[in-house]
Amino acid sequence: KKGSHRTFMEKEIFEQPGAAQSALFSRVDSNQRRIRLGGIAEHMDELLQCRRVFLVGCGTSYHAGMMAETVIERLCGYSVTSVLASHFIDCLPHVGPGDMCVFISQSGSTADTIAALEYANKCDALTVGIVNTVGSSIYRQTDCGVHINAGYEASVCSTKAYTCQCVSLLMIALCIHFEQRLRQNQPVSDLYDEIFDGIITLPDALSEALDESKHIHEIAKKISAASSCLVLGRGFSYSVAREGALKIKEVSYIHAEGIAAGELKHGTLALVCDDIPLVFVAPCDRYMPKMQNAVAQCTARRTDKAKDGVVIITDDTAWVSAGFKSVIKTPRVHEMVQPLVSCVPLQLLALYLCEERGFDVDKPRNLAKSVTVE
Ligand code: UD1
Ligand code: BG6
Repeated sequence: KKGSHRTFMEKEIFEQPGAAQSALFSRVDSNQRRIRLGGIAEHMDELLQCRRVFLVGCGTSYHAGMMAETVIERLCGYSVTSVLASHFIDCLPHVGPGDMCVFISQSGSTADTIAALEYANKCDALTVGIVNTVGSSIYRQTDCGVHINAGYEASVCSTKAYTCQCVSLLMIALCIHFEQRLRQNQPVSDLYDEIFDGIITLPDALSEALDESKHIHEIAKKISAASSCLVLGRGFSYSVAREGALKIKEVSYIHAEGIAAGELKHGTLALVCDDIPLVFVAPCDRYMPKMQNAVAQCTARRTDKAKDGVVIITDDTAWVSAGFKSVIKTPRVHEMVQPLVSCVPLQLLALYLCEERGFDVDKPRNLAKSVTVE
């Protein structure tokens, strides 16, 4: 049931604070400041022996892996690679004992992800599932895993499941870090504390990000006639740019590309002109000076003085003072948790672009919720 919402996509976007809360529910031990995941506890010895991690998924689930890559690497010391399931089965990387292969899937029944899982099982890698659907194929075929508790997701376009997948991956990283330090008789790192605080306050931060919905709708009206749009981010925000572009193209049919801002001069700058809206994911993190430079490179090649076609998603009000009209404000959280918050405005932007263009948000053409054939 859609309740008071016009579409399932809208409903599911607005359900995200509650969904994140469900993913965290009973797993956060606030007194001991640790995460308890029943789904991986029994396999902790094997998890700690791993050296490499592959995060495997399709579409939005792949972007959840991209989002978590650096956090897992920094917190746990593994070498971490996120990879598309289709590419994994095409390339058949050398995996085996000592490797952890994590299969991320809302449905738990995506054909490519299952094929990649079957290969990893055959190679005797440790297989871990991150799924929403209890009893699904990926749940059944993995050695262990975590149910993300997002609740039923009806819209083809995945939103709340993405958020819960990211939360679950961060919880796994925290859980492993805690256990590593416990066994070494060492306290947890500062980064652990920062990310722990970041995820327990995430439901509130998501609610605050949703408060910008009306403003985002107004911005969508201004750029809805575009046939192409670029979403740019760097560092922790690169995966968000990719996920945001996917959302926009899936439902609004505007050609959208998620670009690493550091690559602008290596090709994409050739496309920058007044006709193409640019969306920058530019939170106040360690990459901010470089993002300011990227924005300057692009605006120098545009003539629209009102800068209506330049959208900035940020937790830094300095952009408004700098004369940008389409600034979407997000709450400030730790830079490695920020991607979860920055993604919300992009989900809403995609939703409103689709509505403005008069398409069916919940049933995008040619796409299916669950892709069960390769
Ligand atoms: C359980 C509840 C969860 C609740 C949590 C805390 C269910 C299904 N789970 O989760 O909703 O938030 O208690 O109260 O009701 N598994 C796999 N592969 C996967 C996913 C899971 O093998 O892809 C396995 C796990 O290893 C575990 C079992 O399924 O053995 C259940 O996993 P999960 O639901 O995440 O465990 P809990 O955290 O105990
Ligand atoms: C389909 C859906 O393409 O499969 C996407 O339309 C989804 O929203 C992708 O991200 C992967 O699905 P799953 O169920 O494996 O996460």
